[in-house]
Amino acid sequence: MIEIRGVGHRFGRTRALDDVTLDIGEGEFCALLGPSGCGKTTLLRILAGFEKPETGTVTLDGRDLLAVPPHRRPVNLMFQSFALFPHLSVERNVAYGLERERLPRREVRERVEEVLATVGLTEHARRRPHQLSGGQRQRVALARAIVKRPRLLLLDEPLSALDKQVRAGMQLELKRLQHEVGITFLVVTHDQEEAMSLADRIAVMNAGRVEQTDAPVELYERPRTAFVAGFVGANNLFPERDGDGITAVRPERIRIGDGDGDGAGAGAGGRLTGTVVDVSFHGGTTHIAVRVPDLAEPVLVAVQGPSRVATGERVSLSWPPEAAVPIPVSPTEGEKP
Ligand SMILES: Nc1ncnc2c1ncn2[C@@H]1O[C@H](COP(=O)(O)OP(=O)(O)O)[C@@H](O)[C@H]1O
Ligand SMILES: [Mg+2]
Repeated sequence: MIEIRGVGHRFGRTRALDDVTLDIGEGEFCALLGPSGCGKTTLLRILAGFEKPETGTVTLDGRDLLAVPPHRRPVNLMFQSFALFPHLSVERNVAYGLERERLPRREVRERVEEVLATVGLTEHARRRPHQLSGGQRQRVALARAIVKRPRLLLLDEPLSALDKQVRAGMQLELKRLQHEVGITFLVVTHDQEEAMSLADRIAVMNAGRVEQTDAPVELYERPRTAFVAGFVGANNLFPERDGDGITAVRPERIRIGDGDGDGAGAGAGGRLTGTVVDVSFHGGTTHIAVRVPDLAEPVLVAVQGPSRVATGERVSLSWPPEAAVPIPVSPTEGEKP
């Protein structure tokens, strides 16, 4: 449905987007994942028409989208702050965009009712935004975005203003909603877990570039660049013994034993010895950081449940051969300043 080809954009001397290419299929739930400042919002603003890219093309159903003025695009952008009108009721907030299009009052009323039922706010239709919880305000913003029936809905960090518990519930709700209304969603997030739980496909961005676009499982199991391996799944990155490649090993694949253990089971996998520098308990798992001589970063190990390992202890680390994922050094990395 959407084809983004070679899109580049600068603000003064800042290169916000660099040769971005991405396809989004009809009805897909797609995520842009990357750290703050990597260009996610800029790409959404280009799709919505608030920014014109210096280079590249964007088409929708094969037609040039960049030539269409923002208000004529079948695209809606839901902002990071929900930007609700504080003096208007929930239903008036939702109706606003349709009223501006001068749709018949009856159609406006029917569509607002329908969409409020979809997001579960029928009972709160007469309230003002300040009489709602954060999660409910989020739903008003969503209702307002989908009531106009865009082909593509862009969501910029839609859940970042919510606290953790509400966020988990809203993630499920967003997925259900997308399924129900059948609108193509492109959601921006810097949260790896959120992207993985929401999206069919994730484009991982770094410094203005899309480094890899894949389904969550593919990204997790077959990262193609060192950045993706580090950002998705918090992989440990080890320089290859021969050649200039990199090997990624996920924290939960590393076994931890005492310092003079025999490393049985390591086989042709990896084996290291180091000193525990940090132990943190997260309920379901414990994260253990181990400083290993000659490695710049501590090795991260994740074990199920609590661990008896203590800071300062000498430990051996081992992993089976199949846990080591080779990362080709991407040719573009050398060109970056
Ligand atoms: N209007 C602007 N003027 C100048 N620089 C901008 C502007 N918008 C974004 N930038 C810069 O472009 C880069 C990408 O920004 P942005 O797209 O907002 O990133 P993200 O949404 O991934 O955090 C950043 O370095 C940011 O500071
Ligand atoms: Mg942003």
